[in-house]
Formats: sequence, structure tokens, C-alpha cells
Amino acid sequence: MNAGAALRAAHRYLMNTYRRPQLVFTRGRGCYIYDHRGRRYLDFLGGIAVNALGHAHPAVVRALRRQAARAIHVSNLYHNEFQGPLAEQLAACSGMDRVFFTNSGSEAVETALKLARAYAKQKTNGASRVRLLALDGAFHGRTFGALTVTAAAKYRDPFAPLLPEVTFVRLNDVADLEAKFDARVCALILEPIQGEGGIQPVSEAFYSRARQLCTAHDAALIVDEIQCGLGRTGRWFAYQKFPERPDLVTVAKPLAAGLPLGAVLARENFAAAFTPGLHGSTFGGGPLACAVALAVLRTIQRERLLENVRARGAELLAGLHELARRFRCIREIRGEGLMLGIELETDAAPYVERALARGLLVNATHERVLRLLPPYILTAAQVRTFLDRLADVLARTPRAKPSRPTPSPAVARAVSRAARAAAH
Ligand SMILES: Cc1ncc(COP(=O)(O)O)c(C=O)c1O
Repeated sequence: MNAGAALRAAHRYLMNTYRRPQLVFTRGRGCYIYDHRGRRYLDFLGGIAVNALGHAHPAVVRALRRQAARAIHVSNLYHNEFQGPLAEQLAACSGMDRVFFTNSGSEAVETALKLARAYAKQKTNGASRVRLLALDGAFHGRTFGALTVTAAAKYRDPFAPLLPEVTFVRLNDVADLEAKFDARVCALILEPIQGEGGIQPVSEAFYSRARQLCTAHDAALIVDEIQCGLGRTGRWFAYQKFPERPDLVTVAKPLAAGLPLGAVLARENFAAAFTPGLHGSTFGGGPLACAVALAVLRTIQRERLLENVRARGAELLAGLHELARRFRCIREIRGEGLMLGIELETDAAPYVERALARGLLVNATHERVLRLLPPYILTAAQVRTFLDRLADVLARTPRAKPSRPTPSPAVARAVSRAARAAAH
């Protein structure tokens, strides 16, 4: 392939939304990915939690080939062979009742917010139960509704004004949650483990109180499992460590192994708020993506990958704690299963760059957190290879001056509000 031409065209014609290294990935196999020079990288990012089965898994390739030659699209005006069975599987592993399919995570979040509003409106004969609560540190996507419940000022402010009536609650602060919850709230949305927020788990006490308050006010508890769900924690869903179910669950990333597919799973009472014509999608739940998603879920079961996630996750966590004892640049290790964050004393970007040069794919989130989201098919030998390479990266990356702690989203919002006011 002509990598130079591909890079030149990208620079000339793509919108400038990503900072990318100057290489082109051309293929992958299992937990490895290869660039245009044939150089091999151990992929601990998994396409940001998408490639749960790694690259070119035979079950995925088989399902894709077979279905591509039969029907890629038939439209949601008709049934296809796979949407119903996939919804049945998702209901079985989540304990939820009904499913709506989308094309992305953001769109699943939009759908969940619309469903919560529709439910509240129907229940109150149109009265104004419209407030949305979300958490500091939350990331729920880039479309307008999803962005409205995303906390970071740097993502929100350039697009303001967003939806009205959204309030942010401090993560794991039960008193703040109680103070901000009232009878006008129609939904609270949370990630059981915040991904972009730096791998920050929601506590059981906070989740339980959120569940109680939502039940008491007949508001929707929306759990965003787009990054932490579908097996990443070693359970089908991260919320399953808590005793009670949410009302709505959003999933996407690993569902169809990289084909665009998301979903909202709902309890029956909330699902009933959608009636024909109220919501829809041209591509969502098409036969190709759904056939592949069924192959993904079957493979996770057949290859006992939830067990593998737990076993490899435990080895990785133990190894990272060992590294934390050796390297003072590590501040904290957080997360569960194969969703782990290494918080550093300084900016994580130079470590990501050094890791790439060492044949390791990881990324930085929340400035100082190295994020690990490897495929569920990871082997014990690959965990050891990763830990050896990471030790090398930690030892050789020159330490930048400790960065100032990232301000909380609430502080960042207050600062940018003050700056806007000063500019007027
Ligand atoms: C928790 C969470 N919600 C929503 C999204 C948005 O998903 P998408 O990029 O598919 O729109 C993401 C993406 O990173 C996410 O991590």
C-alpha cells in the first residue's frame, strides 16, 4: 500500500478532529495489529473497547462473509432474520425486557433520553418532568443530547447552548445527589465505570441511592454501558455487581465487532412509551450488523471469554500493582476486568508515544490516565509481554514536571462561565 499517499490525502482532505501518529494500520490478527511497514503492535486499546474478539476473529469473518452475500440492508419497515434473536439474547444476558437498535453509542444515549422524556410526559399528561441529571466526569457522546449530559467543558462549550434542564452531580457524592434530585427529574444517567472520565467506578452506595430516588420519583435510571458493558468487567454488564437493575441500558462499541451497532435495552414499562412512528432509524439493527453481533455474543459464550476476562484481568491488575511499587510515577490503579486505568503523576501522552515506539497500543484519557481496554481473548503470555514492555516504557520515558491535577468538570465549567462573563 502507498502509506505516503494515504497520509497526504488525510492531511489535505479530512477535517482536523484527531491528533494521529504518522502511521497507517493495515491489518490485525488476534491481539496484534500491523502498520504499513509490517510492524506489529500488541493492541491494548482494542479500537477503544470495540475489538472484544481481537482482530479478524474467524467467527466474525464467517458471519460477515455469509450475510454480506445474502442481505446487507432491508430497512426497518420489515423484519430481518437477526434483529429479534439478537434482542432476545441481549434481554437474556441483561435481565431487561425490550431492545431498540441504533448505529452508535451516542445515538443509543439519544434514544434513552428521548424514551425517558416520552415516559415522563405520558405519565404526567404532558407536565414538565424534564430535568436530566448526569455525573461530573461523565462522557456520553458527541451528538447534542448526549453532549448535554457529557461533563467536560472543552467538549460542551464550543457548541452551547445545549439542551436546558441538565444538572451535574458529583461522582459518588450521595448528599449532592439527594440535594439535586427532585420531582421534576425524568432521568439520571451514569456510567458504572467512567471511561473517558479516567476509569472511575461508581460506588455501590451511590448507585443504590440513585436507584431508590429514581424509583421514588418514577424517573429513569439510565446506565451507559457503551464502554464498560458486554463482558468487559468479566460480567455481561458492569451494573450486575449491584443488586438492582436500572431502567434503561445503552450498549454499542463491542456489540458488532466494529460494525456500527448500538442498542437501548429497557424495562417493559419504559419501553411501552415508544409506539409506532415515535422513534426510528434507517440503518440501526440491519441484518449484517445483527448477524455479526449474534456471532460475537455466541463466541463470548462458547469460548468462555467472561472467565478469561476475569482471569487475565486479575493477572494484569496484580502486575500493575507490582509496577506501581517499582515506579513512583504511578499514582493509582483503577478499574475491573479488562478495563483498567493507570493514573500517573504527570501527563500520560509521552508514555503513550513511547509505548507505540515499543510496539504497544494504549491511550491516554483524562490527561494523566493510561487506559487499557484489550480484547477478551488475551492470553496469559500476552499479559506478561505487556507488563514487560510497560515496565520498559515507565523506566525510559523522561518524567515531565508533575502536571496540575485536572480540575473537576464542575470547576472547569465554572471557570469557563467566568471567562465568558468576563468577555462580555
Ligand atoms: C460511555 C460512553 N458513552 C457513549 C459513547 C459514545 O459512543 P459513540 O462514539 O459510538 O457515539 C462513548 C464513546 O466513547 C462512551 O465511552
